[in-house]
Amino acid sequence: MKFKPFSKKQKTALRWWADPLTRKYDAIICDGAVRSGKTLCMSLGFVLWAASNFDGADFAICGKTVTSLKRNVVTPLLRTLRSLGFDCLEKSSASFADISMEGIGCNRFYFFGGKDEGSAALIQGITLSGILLDEVALMPRSFVEQAIARCSVTGSKLWFNCNPENPAHWFYREWICRQKEKNALYLHFTMNDNPALTDDIRKRYERLYSGAFYERFVLGKWTRTDGLVYPMFDKQKHVASPPDSCTEFRISCDYGTVNPSSFGLWGKCGDVWYRLREYYYDARKEGLSRTDEEHYRELCNLAGDLPVKLVIIDPSAASMITCIERHGRFKVLKADNRVLVGIQRTSEAIISGKIIISPSCSDIIREFSLYCWDEGSLNDAPKKENDHAMDDMRYFVMAEIAGDKMGGFFAYSARRR
Ligand SMILES: Nc1ncnc2c1ncn2[C@@H]1O[C@H](COP(=O)(O)OP(=O)(O)O)[C@@H](O)[C@H]1O
Ligand SMILES: [Mg+2]
Repeated sequence: MKFKPFSKKQKTALRWWADPLTRKYDAIICDGAVRSGKTLCMSLGFVLWAASNFDGADFAICGKTVTSLKRNVVTPLLRTLRSLGFDCLEKSSASFADISMEGIGCNRFYFFGGKDEGSAALIQGITLSGILLDEVALMPRSFVEQAIARCSVTGSKLWFNCNPENPAHWFYREWICRQKEKNALYLHFTMNDNPALTDDIRKRYERLYSGAFYERFVLGKWTRTDGLVYPMFDKQKHVASPPDSCTEFRISCDYGTVNPSSFGLWGKCGDVWYRLREYYYDARKEGLSRTDEEHYRELCNLAGDLPVKLVIIDPSAASMITCIERHGRFKVLKADNRVLVGIQRTSEAIISGKIIISPSCSDIIREFSLYCWDEGSLNDAPKKENDHAMDDMRYFVMAEIAGDKMGGFFAYSARRR
């Protein structure tokens, strides 16, 4: 791997334990923007610190899951260490590596995934001389506290990094706000602290996020979600009449019996998916609920004679799913209903112009202007109001646009969440 000279902040994160001004600290916390160079310098600094102060000791490197940890942290770290002359013996089945350098001894580094089943129990038994918690804000508090409690060896230090979340998050309140009491060195990273980030990539990130997610991931601030969920939606830009040349068709459904049902018909034209038409039925407003068969008839009306390949539907709509399957005309896909990831990816799809709404879809256009975050909620939840077309759109994006279909860059940012 080719290094650019480390930025000043990266150098501090690498060497704080050796500097007479900062070595008094028991912990280091690096937070801030995505891709700001936190993980690279901290993981390297962690092993260098261990090698300079311990021999034959045990350490832990923890990520959200072991899989993401290996991909984002361990693999690049071992490659870098080898190029610096370290011997790294990776026991992947046992999930640890022995890292040594001639003349300065050998230490063992265990790998844990804070969200993996049973990880808290696994870490419980060992005594550690230090831990590195990468993306600590994504791990359960119980795991983090268990891991910290294992660091009982004299001279042990705690290394934390994360991207910002909601300011009500326990890690923010317990560690960042109380850094003095915890005797922790706090470094705040921005994208300018990563010397390897090109202007192009930086601008792409700036374009990709808006609202609270822009503040968090680009500016690196711990910002509350408030106001509209999709503040980037702009009628001037995102509402337009579709061309006649769509080549593929899908329908996405959010099903309600008492609450409204919202179905959207999507057509693909080139690279863009247009919401061509919609069906929105509010039983409460109409004073009359519809049966599954009646909804199914409307689904068929919505499809008309178009070759709709797939109906993507709310996974909890069991009776409606059975009804659609029984008729045999459409293939059914149960939607991925992870709300925050879905909102994130839908935001990306709107900003990057991958979905456009036809002016005739008045219900989704109305919901865009009303769908907002629940400001009373501590963990980034949207209000469960005006969310029916919003949900069917999210199911559609998760099934058709998100993930690897968005290309490497989108897939990267989506994976992280
Ligand atoms: N000094 C550097 N020289 C070369 N590449 C770097 C340097 N600092 C960071 N990078 C690269 O930039 C990317 C983002 O860095 P990373 O440490 O993963 O950021 P973060 O943890 O803040 O998201 C990684 O691919 C990393 O290898
Ligand atoms: Mg990182």
